[in-house]
Amino acid sequence: MEKRINTSVFISGRGSNLKSLYKFSKSKKTPIKINLIVTDNKDALGLKFVKKKKIKLLIVNYKNILSAEKLILKLMSKESIQLICLAGFMKILTKKFIKSFKGKIINIHPSLLPKYKGLNTHKRALKNKDKFGGCTVHYVSSKIDSGRIILRKKVKISKMDTENSLKLKVLRAEHKLYPAAINKIKSSF
Ligand code: GRF
Repeated sequence: MEKRINTSVFISGRGSNLKSLYKFSKSKKTPIKINLIVTDNKDALGLKFVKKKKIKLLIVNYKNILSAEKLILKLMSKESIQLICLAGFMKILTKKFIKSFKGKIINIHPSLLPKYKGLNTHKRALKNKDKFGGCTVHYVSSKIDSGRIILRKKVKISKMDTENSLKLKVLRAEHKLYPAAINKIKSSF
C-alpha cells in the first residue's frame, strides 16, 4: 500500500464528520490515516466515538490561545501530521498557527462559499429564499471561511424545508464531500 497521509481531525461538538472521515480512513483505497484528534471541548459528543475507537486524543485548554496552539503544534510535529481537517472546530486558528504548521489545513463549511461565511448559514439561505444550499471544503487561510475552495456540493432547497431539515440534508452531503475533497488533493502531498 502507498504511504498514507498522516491526518489530524479537530472537533468541538457532535463529530459526525469525524465519523465519516474515520470510515473513509478505513476504506480500501483511502489516502489518509487518522493519527490524532484535537478538541477544545472535553465534553464534545464526538469524543465518545474517539474513545471507543481508541484514537489518540488531545484535549486542549484554550484559556490561553497562544499556549494552546503551541501545544497543538508540538504534537502535530511529534506525530508527523501532514493534514489537519477541521470538522466543526469552533476555535479560530491564529495566523501564526496557520503559518507555522508545515502541512495543509482544510475545513468543511455548511454553505456554498463564498456565500454565507460564518454562522447560521441555513437560516440565511432560507430567509433569502435560495433555491440551493450546500457545503464547501476549502483550505484554511487567516480570513474566516475564505481560503481556496477545493470542492462544493449543492443541495436543493424545497418549499417545505425548515432550518433543521435543511441542516440534515446538508450534513448528509458533507459526509460525502469531505472524503471526496481529500481524494481531490491527495496528489499534492
Ligand atoms: C458541520 O455542519 C460543519 O459543516 C460545520 O460544523 C458542523 C459540524 O458537525 N463546520 P459535526 O460535528 O461534524 O457533526
